[in-house]
Amino acid sequence: MRTVSKDNITQAFLNYCSQDTDPRLKFVLEKLVHHLHDFVRETDLTHDEWRKGLELLYAAGEISTPERNEFVLFSDVLGLSSLVDMVNSPEDGTPSSVLGPFHVLGAPEAAVGADLKGDNEGKTVVVGGRVLTPDGQPVVGAELEIWQTADNGLYSNQDAAQPEYNLRSHMNADDDGRYLFSTVRPAPYTVPDDGPVGELLRATGRHPWRPSHLHFIVTAPGFRSLVTEVFPSDDPYLDEDAVFGVREKLVMEYQERTSLDGLPDDLEIRDRLTLPYYVVDFDFVLARAET
Ligand code: BEZ
Ligand code: FE
Repeated sequence: MRTVSKDNITQAFLNYCSQDTDPRLKFVLEKLVHHLHDFVRETDLTHDEWRKGLELLYAAGEISTPERNEFVLFSDVLGLSSLVDMVNSPEDGTPSSVLGPFHVLGAPEAAVGADLKGDNEGKTVVVGGRVLTPDGQPVVGAELEIWQTADNGLYSNQDAAQPEYNLRSHMNADDDGRYLFSTVRPAPYTVPDDGPVGELLRATGRHPWRPSHLHFIVTAPGFRSLVTEVFPSDDPYLDEDAVFGVREKLVMEYQERTSLDGLPDDLEIRDRLTLPYYVVDFDFVLARAET
């Protein structure tokens, strides 16, 4: 197309894509460019604003390392990561939520009932529940990856004072789909705000806090993998998560207990528990994998 105008430039882009472009790629690009072009037309974007946007992306590249991906963080604080999660979450399963940058592979195996708290400071929490099918049956062969912050709001890979795999584990649920562990109550924390994402947050009067949470990846043969996190109902940041990860169905309660009554026998920490402690009861529902 020779005479490109602001009204036909979107079509011109599409015309330039060859006939044998992968259909899904063409569809996604068509929508992306359509919205990008509309965005410029609707905002009358100035050169300075366009340049500022590109400078933010450049700065994101400069600060990114294999351990820190500022582009993902941009996606998180813009709500893009959570929207992709929600669009892809099956209706009949536990909702997914952001993975975040602090998951590491290779966490040690822990048996059902294991203690992750060890020498960690903080309130003791007994977390348990079942991994279920959408019709309430136990999922056989379920595995859980668990990670969280310590009482100081830091993950083990952010804090040289913590042992390498502190408050991280991999657990095989039992044949009844049951998982159980004791741990420490995690604390709210801030997403990294010393880069261009922080600049954007400050420019828009936003804070970088996330409500405290426990992260899980739940997998089982024949089921869709679930990356999610659960949040306590009494967290001060529950309604203002910097990365929009909270969903109604992911909110749990820390129930205070002042006696050992009703505690499962297979809880490793049982004989060392001090009162009060807190119980979290949370079931995961896995959607069946598409065949
Ligand atoms: C996290 O939950 O670990 C996290 C998620 C998004 C951005 C930063 C941290
Ligand atoms: Fe987290």
